[in-house]
Amino acid sequence: MSSLVVNNGCEICTDGFFESEEEELLGQIHAWNCTFAFVESLAVKCAILLEIPDMIAREGPRATLSLNEIAARLPRESPDVSCVFRIMRFLVAKGVFRASVVKSSEDGGSYETRYGLTPVSKWFVKEREQSMVPMLLLQNDERIVAPWHCFNECVLDGGLPFQRTNGGDMWSYTSAHPDFNHLFNNAMACDTGIVMKALLSKYRGFHALNSLVDVGGGTGTATAEIVRTYPSIKAINYDLAHVVATARQLPGVEHVGGDMFETVPSGDAIFMKWIMHNWSDEDCIKILKNCRKAIPETGKVIIVDMVVDSQHNNKNERAALDPNLCLVFDLLMATHCTGGKERTEEEWKKILWEGGFGDYNIIAIPAVQSVIEAFPR
Ligand SMILES: C[S@@+](CC[C@H](N)C(=O)[O-])C[C@H]1O[C@@H](n2cnc3c(N)ncnc32)[C@H](O)[C@@H]1O
Repeated sequence: MSSLVVNNGCEICTDGFFESEEEELLGQIHAWNCTFAFVESLAVKCAILLEIPDMIAREGPRATLSLNEIAARLPRESPDVSCVFRIMRFLVAKGVFRASVVKSSEDGGSYETRYGLTPVSKWFVKEREQSMVPMLLLQNDERIVAPWHCFNECVLDGGLPFQRTNGGDMWSYTSAHPDFNHLFNNAMACDTGIVMKALLSKYRGFHALNSLVDVGGGTGTATAEIVRTYPSIKAINYDLAHVVATARQLPGVEHVGGDMFETVPSGDAIFMKWIMHNWSDEDCIKILKNCRKAIPETGKVIIVDMVVDSQHNNKNERAALDPNLCLVFDLLMATHCTGGKERTEEEWKKILWEGGFGDYNIIAIPAVQSVIEAFPR
C-alpha cells in the first residue's frame, strides 16, 4: 500500500517496498554506482592513454604537477585543458590521483591545484616494470568487453559469450589475430611479473629442483624469474606454437611449442599459473594427468591460481586484498573461457585427486592468487 512521508520538507512516496527511507536512498546511490561502474575504469584508461601517471612519475614518486604542467606535456599544441581538469577531478574523487592546493610558483599571490600519484595510480605507470597498464588495456578492449553484453543470452541458450561475439574461442582467436595475441600476452606477462615477485618472496618450493616446465607459460615471464632466482634449474616454457613464436629469447629458458592436452615435456616439477581456471573440471583432469606422466614419483605440480572462500585468504599476507576479486575473475572465466571457473578448496581437491595428485598444500602469497602445491598419489 503506498503512503506519503515528509522528509526535510520534501514529500517522498513509499509503498513499503523498502524497509526504510534510509535504505531506499542508500540503495538508490548504490544502484547509480552500479549503473556507472564502467566510468571509473574508462576514465583511468583515458588518463593512461594521455600518459598522465607516467608524466607525474617521471618527476618522482612524490612529485606533483599543476594542470598547466600536465597540459604542456600532452602531445598537442592546444589540448582541451578543461576536460583534463574534469578527468583529474573525478579520478581524485575516486582516490586514483591526489590533489593539493598550494601557492602558485608562477604567481606567488595565487593558489593552484597540483596533482600527484596515489598507491593506485602508481600501478598505472606504464614505464615501470611492475605495471597494471597492459591488464587494464586488455580488460577494456572491445573484444573482451563485448562478451559481457551477451552473457544473458548465453545463460539462456548456452554457449560461450566470447565465442559468440568473436567467432572463436580465446586460443583460436589469439592464434588468428596477432594484435590481440600481443595484447593478451602482454597483459598476462604484466600480471606474472607482479605475482612472481610476491611468490618468490614467500614460496621456497623451487630450491631442490633440477628442471621445471611452465605449462601454458605464455611468453616465459614466470620461467625467466624462477631461473633468475634459481640459476641451476633447467627450465622449459611450454605454450601453444603461436605464443612461443612471439616470445623473446630469455636467459636460461627454452621455449617449446605444443598442446598440453596431447603431451607435456618432462621435468622434476610442473608450474602452471592461471591455467586451470581457464578450463572445466574434465579438461583440468586431462591436463593434470599429462602433468603426472611428465614428472617422477617424487615430483610435484606447482599451481598458481585463486582459491574461493579460502581460510588461507584471511592470512596476514592477504589481508589487504579484496576477497570479492575471486568472484570477479569467476565471472570473467564464465564469459571468456570454455568451462573456466574459480574453485573452492574442495573443488581443487577433487580435480587434483582425479588428475593423479593426493597430498597438497595451499600457500598464501601477497597476490590475488595462492600457490597450490600437489604431489603424486
Ligand atoms: C591465462 S594465460 C596464462 C599465461 C601464463 N601462465 C601467465 O600466467 O602469465 C593461459 C595460457 O595457456 C595457453 N594455452 C591455452 N591452451 C593451451 C594448450 N592447449 N597447450 C598449451 N598452452 C595452452 C595460452 O596460450 C596462454 O598463454
